[in-house]
Amino acid sequence: MTQKMEKQMGTILRKYNREEGNVISILQDLQKKFGHVPREAVYWFSDRLNIPASSFFGVATFYSQFHLKPRGRHIITACLGTACHVRGAVPVEHRIREHLSLGKGEDTTKDMHYTVESVACMGACSLAPVIRIDKKIHSNVLPEEVGDILEEDREGKKR
Ligand code: FES
Repeated sequence: MTQKMEKQMGTILRKYNREEGNVISILQDLQKKFGHVPREAVYWFSDRLNIPASSFFGVATFYSQFHLKPRGRHIITACLGTACHVRGAVPVEHRIREHLSLGKGEDTTKDMHYTVESVACMGACSLAPVIRIDKKIHSNVLPEEVGDILEEDREGKKR
């Protein structure tokens, strides 16, 4: 942990007293400050507030708004819900990971450009299979189109 990080956490700490009810607020502040909830920060707050680290991790893993690992600058969301699944979502998601050279258990590219996540439905089942890159929806996606979609997106974000 860097001195700068510890100083930033000290600022957050001063906002809260020793009540477990503040766990969510602390997690929100950590997420806002660091872009994710660093594990070392959880242990740091746990020690100082005498709140079990499991309370922080329990909340952080329950709510999808919290992320325990650093995320990329852009989020690719692959829908793996039933409608998308039956129309080929799994090969599409596989192709995304392959194109981004993500290893087993990896979700974020080494350059931190993309993080790949999945959801159970985006509410656009008639357009299945669906992927979303940040806010842009791509519908009826075929595995063989994935490379072009990702290259086009990356190029667009350079401009
Ligand atoms: S199942 Fe994919 S959008 Fe509904």
